[in-house]
Amino acid sequence: MEKERFYREIDSELASLVADESDLIARMSTICSLLKDRLSWVSWAGFYRCLDDETLVVGPYQGRIGCLRIRIGSGVCGTAAEKRAPVIVPDVHAFPGHIACDPAARSEIVLPVFDAAGKLLAVLDLDSHLPAAFDETDQRFLERLLSERVVGRP
Ligand code: SME
Repeated sequence: MEKERFYREIDSELASLVADESDLIARMSTICSLLKDRLSWVSWAGFYRCLDDETLVVGPYQGRIGCLRIRIGSGVCGTAAEKRAPVIVPDVHAFPGHIACDPAARSEIVLPVFDAAGKLLAVLDLDSHLPAAFDETDQRFLERLLSERVVGRP
């Protein structure tokens, strides 16, 4: 499947790019750049980091300006953070409380990012201008990228 090929290429490139990089923000920035650059269906790729128990604050991202802060429990990002689980939204207009940073966005996937102790560090948000652009294939590869290339190290 085409998607799997793109993700495998990103993973092998990331492996060499971040293998010796100990800084979390540098790894997050690199993964955003690769995801936005290589996945044609992605219009925005970025992290929202947990600032405290109530607030996400924007982290490294690629794409047009994103909102700076999101309350945990609000929008797709805040819902994924609250549930500590991935959320796939095939039609953002049908998602109650969706936060529209880009009026052209049609679908979205958000995944939680945990540290080695299981604490929620951030969420990864990918948006698309295409409807239903994300599915379980994206979720599976992105979960692996997050655990192996972003966290899982000091
Ligand atoms: N749509 C997201 C907000 C972040 S931006 O799309 C960059 C949400 O509803 O959480």
